[in-house]
Amino acid sequence: QATRAGSGTSSAPSAAAGRSSLVFDPGAYTESTITIKDPDGVAHEVVYRFHKVASYVAKPVDAAYQSLNVSVPVWIDGAAVDATDAPILLANAIGGYMPSSVANNTGIVASGMGGGTSRQALALAAGYVVVEPGARGRTLIDATGTYYGTAPAAIVDLKAAVRYLKSNKGRVPGNVHRIVSSGVSAGGALSSLLGASGDSPLYDPYLKAIGAADASDAIFAVGAWCPITDLEHSDAAYEWCWGDNPLGSGAQVDPAISRDLKVAYGDYLASLGLRAKGFGRLTARNLDEYLLKTHIEPSATRYLAALSDTDRAAYLSANTFITWSGGRAAFSWADFLTHAGARKKNAPSFDGFDLATPENNLFGTGTTKARHFTLYSLRHENGDSARLDADVPAKLDLMNPMHHLVEDLNRNRSKHWWIRLGTKDSDTSLSVAGNLSARLTTLGDDVDTAYYWDAGHGADQDPGAFIKWIAEVSG
Ligand code: DHB
Repeated sequence: QATRAGSGTSSAPSAAAGRSSLVFDPGAYTESTITIKDPDGVAHEVVYRFHKVASYVAKPVDAAYQSLNVSVPVWIDGAAVDATDAPILLANAIGGYMPSSVANNTGIVASGMGGGTSRQALALAAGYVVVEPGARGRTLIDATGTYYGTAPAAIVDLKAAVRYLKSNKGRVPGNVHRIVSSGVSAGGALSSLLGASGDSPLYDPYLKAIGAADASDAIFAVGAWCPITDLEHSDAAYEWCWGDNPLGSGAQVDPAISRDLKVAYGDYLASLGLRAKGFGRLTARNLDEYLLKTHIEPSATRYLAALSDTDRAAYLSANTFITWSGGRAAFSWADFLTHAGARKKNAPSFDGFDLATPENNLFGTGTTKARHFTLYSLRHENGDSARLDADVPAKLDLMNPMHHLVEDLNRNRSKHWWIRLGTKDSDTSLSVAGNLSARLTTLGDDVDTAYYWDAGHGADQDPGAFIKWIAEVSG
């Protein structure tokens, strides 16, 4: 049995940990008390230990990003807590594929979005260990003008953080076989990618280059909110979903471009060969029905069922496209899209012709800030014979969970998935999370997917349920 965290004596570094710099020191922490409001609004007093790990790799490119913090509850409401075997929430704070640093954090931040409690704090108050990893991101540039945080840096860093934890099994508090990743948007994309790509050898050269610990990077479970993923198909997916919706200005996007991309989505869906119960093979023709019946109508049903009779009646009279019968909401895809309103992004939404999107920068390399990563946008700008840079296809695979779930099916993927998305989130197509969910379900994984009715980008409407789910799946 390994030394308990904070007992004051650390066990000898094991051979598995390799380099001494990658050995977690259970005795190095600061202890503080934090008041955490649970999802029911009840305040809990939590005493916890906060460990700062200067770097989770032996050869950091930039330790300001390649570092992590570990928070361990020791007392909750006056009762001693033993987190030795607790699940570990690996909560990334990545947004926009930007760099994310935790190096200056001095503790858990209790407040989360919209005045609520942060997911980390909820996890801590539930007795879980919380690990907050930093990661490199797309805008980082060194003195020579070289971009060092573009793809696949962020996923390589998250994998290195997992390897660090696993190589410190028994020293780091918590059960390293119960690592549950969480993230929102780009962070949700990376969370799902981390789960899908566990132990894939494709990342080995990158992990080796930064001196990652020699251990598994497979994780137990994934929480992903509005994952902005499957990037090389996102322009097509977007036009398939939001193609006819106006921009915020009221203007329509270029119809020829929208149509080209929408047609391309049909080809992509055919190549994916997704299936869903009651729908058979998912194609550009039935994907809308799949999303509607499996995710979007149930979302409206949950929303309406939770309202008082008066509020429900008011909502229904303001939204007459919804038929409410037998406690269920029903409507057409076309009416739903009209209700969803303006699309957030122009066409193409991700691989911008002008190379100005976050994703163009994500696929930058060397001293090149931004590149195309779809043939469609590349050829629109550079002519029909233009080819993607030779390194781009492999980097797309490194960034896309679907690659690891379809073309190169990964047995060491996470088997437990929590997927959430707002029905008015037009940062990407509503089909991106739906496809991910359909594929995982077909694979037999444990998938809990829900869309939040009328919610926009970044919504998390059932934070307490996620915390409970962690306990359920980890048990
Ligand atoms: C995020 C949002 C986007 O619209 C996008 O293209 C990439 C990332 C985000 O919020 O992280």
